[in-house]
Amino acid sequence: MPFKHILESQQFTLPLIKELFDRTDYMKKVVARGGTRDYEKKIVASLFYKPSTRTRFSFESATYRLGGKVLTTEQAKEFSSEIQGEMLEDTIQIISNYCDAIVIRHHEEGAAKRAAAVSPVPIINAGDGSGGQHPTQALLDLYTIHNECQTLNGLSVAFIGALDNGRTVRSLAYLLAKYDRVKLYFVAPAEMQIKPDILEYLDKRNVAYQLLNSVEEILSKVDVVYQTRIDKTRLSLNDTDLSKFNIDASMLQKMKYDAIIMHPLPRSVEIHPEIDKDPRAAYFRQAKNGLYVRMAMMSMLFDVYDSK
Ligand code: CP
Repeated sequence: MPFKHILESQQFTLPLIKELFDRTDYMKKVVARGGTRDYEKKIVASLFYKPSTRTRFSFESATYRLGGKVLTTEQAKEFSSEIQGEMLEDTIQIISNYCDAIVIRHHEEGAAKRAAAVSPVPIINAGDGSGGQHPTQALLDLYTIHNECQTLNGLSVAFIGALDNGRTVRSLAYLLAKYDRVKLYFVAPAEMQIKPDILEYLDKRNVAYQLLNSVEEILSKVDVVYQTRIDKTRLSLNDTDLSKFNIDASMLQKMKYDAIIMHPLPRSVEIHPEIDKDPRAAYFRQAKNGLYVRMAMMSMLFDVYDSK
């Protein structure tokens, strides 16, 4: 790892991603034999100011499988000194005395960078704000695509849902832009389309993309359908309009036989449970990969940290 903190997807180069994926493959074998004690002296603090199931549990499980230990609070917004007005920078400087890395999810965009600016131990961004990033999710997403599609070049990927504040979509778009002949479709209600900063980034790298407001027209073209939630309370659309952004069994027939359906989860109505048994439904395999990828990235961070 050429850096100390994991804050955004743009930090990851192609050689680093390859190293991470090789180590992720190795971590699958480590988990299959019950874990390792290689990092038994490591303590990881999981500091989540916002709810999480997958990210928090997989980071904590990853730490235990590496032999380390976890410090955690269930809801840092309520059960840390933030409730008494402590500023994030102070909290980080205190907690860093007690651990070897801090995994943070925060309600404010840029919070992970603020934490990194004062932290002597690695900070891992587990999602910041509504329009920030979720780089570890994007890396596990990329690993899943690489595993399921056998390549990352030449793929067509449809992102569907509330893309304006979709941290996972933003982070994954940065990573996919590194690969050859990728085509990205952003499918969203007009008021929830992907923000211009991502499009500018894609333009600079000559990545092909298209903005759409219905999923049906591109279902037969794409290799990956990356579905995300739409918060109905943000919209004036009725249920029929919203259904243009949902995946149900009738749409499976229009998809390529070897395409995959992904979702960072949790889902609401946007993927009907009847889809789950279709082999193209990759979202539970995707969530499982989170454990292996997070073991790999933490072990890489610790190796660098220990060598200094
Ligand atoms: N994908 C994801 O970030 O899920 P959680 O909110 O459960 O961590």
